[in-house]
Amino acid sequence: MSVWYPYTQMKNLTPFPIVKKGKGALIYLNDGRILIDSISSWWSVIHGYNHPELNAEIKKQTNKIAHIMLGGLTHEPAIKLAEKLIQITPKNLNHVFFSDSGSVAVEVSLKMAIQYWVNKGLPEKKKFLSLKNGYHGDTFKAMEISDDSDFVKAFDSVLTKGFLLSPPTEGFDQKNIDAEIDILEDTLSKNHHQIAAFILEPIVQCAGGFKIYSPLYLKTIKKLCNKYNVLLIFDEVATGFGRTGKLFAMQHAKVSPDILILGKALTAGYMGHAATIASSKIYNSFLGNGYGKAFMHGPTFMGNPLACAIALKSIEIFEKNNYLLKIKKIEKIIKKEFSPINSIIVKEKRILGAIGAIELIDKKFLIGFQEFALNKSIWIRPIGSVIYIMPPYIIKKQQLIKIIEVIKLWISITDSKLKKSNKKLT
Ligand SMILES: Cc1ncc(COP(=O)(O)O)c(C=O)c1O
Repeated sequence: MSVWYPYTQMKNLTPFPIVKKGKGALIYLNDGRILIDSISSWWSVIHGYNHPELNAEIKKQTNKIAHIMLGGLTHEPAIKLAEKLIQITPKNLNHVFFSDSGSVAVEVSLKMAIQYWVNKGLPEKKKFLSLKNGYHGDTFKAMEISDDSDFVKAFDSVLTKGFLLSPPTEGFDQKNIDAEIDILEDTLSKNHHQIAAFILEPIVQCAGGFKIYSPLYLKTIKKLCNKYNVLLIFDEVATGFGRTGKLFAMQHAKVSPDILILGKALTAGYMGHAATIASSKIYNSFLGNGYGKAFMHGPTFMGNPLACAIALKSIEIFEKNNYLLKIKKIEKIIKKEFSPINSIIVKEKRILGAIGAIELIDKKFLIGFQEFALNKSIWIRPIGSVIYIMPPYIIKKQQLIKIIEVIKLWISITDSKLKKSNKKLT
C-alpha cells in the first residue's frame, strides 16, 4: 500500500473509504455515501467542512503570500494572531511561540520549562510530573510524559519517564480529592528539586478515554506548584476553543498556567498549527546577551501566514456567532439523548460541553461497531472501550440525534445478545 496509515496494522488492511468532499458536518464519499461526522476530524474541524468564510480567507491570504519564514522576517497574520491569543487567554500569558502541530508545541513547552531552570541556574530541575491516562502526542518527550499505552510500548527502553500520578476519578463534581492531593504533595516535597514542571490536560483527558476530573484538583495543584517552585503547563490542544463548554477548560477552575499549549481547533482543521504561550516570568528568563539564554527552536512552518490567517478568522467566527451558546445546546442534547441509555455493558457516561463519552465494561463489545455505524451513515471512531462524540459545533440537532440513535441501537443490540447468551449458560 502506498500510504502508510496511522495507528493501523497495514497487513490485510481493508481499504479505507475515499473522501471526495465535505460540507458542514457531512463527509461525502467517492462511492456516493454521505456520512455525519461525530468527531470533527480528530477534534479540529469546529466550524464544519468547506466553510465559506474560512475558504475565502485562505484564498485571500494565498493571493498575498502562502508562506514566509518567521526567522529574521515577520508578518501581520502572525503578529495579529499572537495579539489575539494573548487577549483571549489569562492575563499572565503574553508571549506566543508558534509551531506546526500539537506534539511539537508540547515539545516546545517542555524545552521552555527545562531551559527556564537552566537559565535560572537550577539545571537539575529537568523531570516532569504528569497524569495517568494523559496523552500529549507521539514525539519522544511527549511519549515520556504520556501514560503507558500500546502507543509507547515499543519505545519503553528509550523513554526517560518522570513521575506519573493518578488524577481524581469521580468526575467534575468530586469534592473530596484529599487522597490524590496527598500523593501529589508527597511526590513534590521529596522530588521538587528535580522537577521542572507539572504538565496535564485540564479537566478532560481526551485520548486517554475522556476521563473528566474536578476543577478543584487544578486549583489545588496550582497552589502546590507555587509552594514547591514547580512550573505548571496546561495542554489544551484537545480541550481548547470551547470543547468543554468554556473557551478554555482551565476556566472551569479559574486557574492559569505558566505555559499554555493550543492546537487542533486553533486552525479549525484547515491546516496543522499550534501555539505555546508563555508567561512573562518564563519569557524574561530567556533574555540576555547572545544566544546563551535564547530559545533555540524554530520549525520551518512556524507562524505560517495561511495558518495564522485561518486561526484569526476561526476565532472571529467563534466570537461573532456566540459559539459558547451553540456548545451549551449541544451539551443539552447529548445529556437528554444519553439519559435513557442504561445497559449492563455500560460502565459510565461522561458529558461536558460538546463532549459525550460512553465507556463500556469491555472493549470487546465494540468489535464491529465502527462498520455498523458506517453502514448507518455515521463516521465515528471509538478509543479502547469508549464510544465518544466530539462533533463540529455547527452540527444540526437532527444530525446529532441521529448519531446518538445509532450508538443507542448498537448498545441495545449488544445488550440483548449478551443477556441471551448469559441465559443460555444458566
Ligand atoms: C492533549 C493533546 N496534546 C497533544 C496532542 C498532539 O497533537 P498533534 O496530533 O497535533 O501532534 C494531542 C492529539 O490528540 C492531544 O490530544
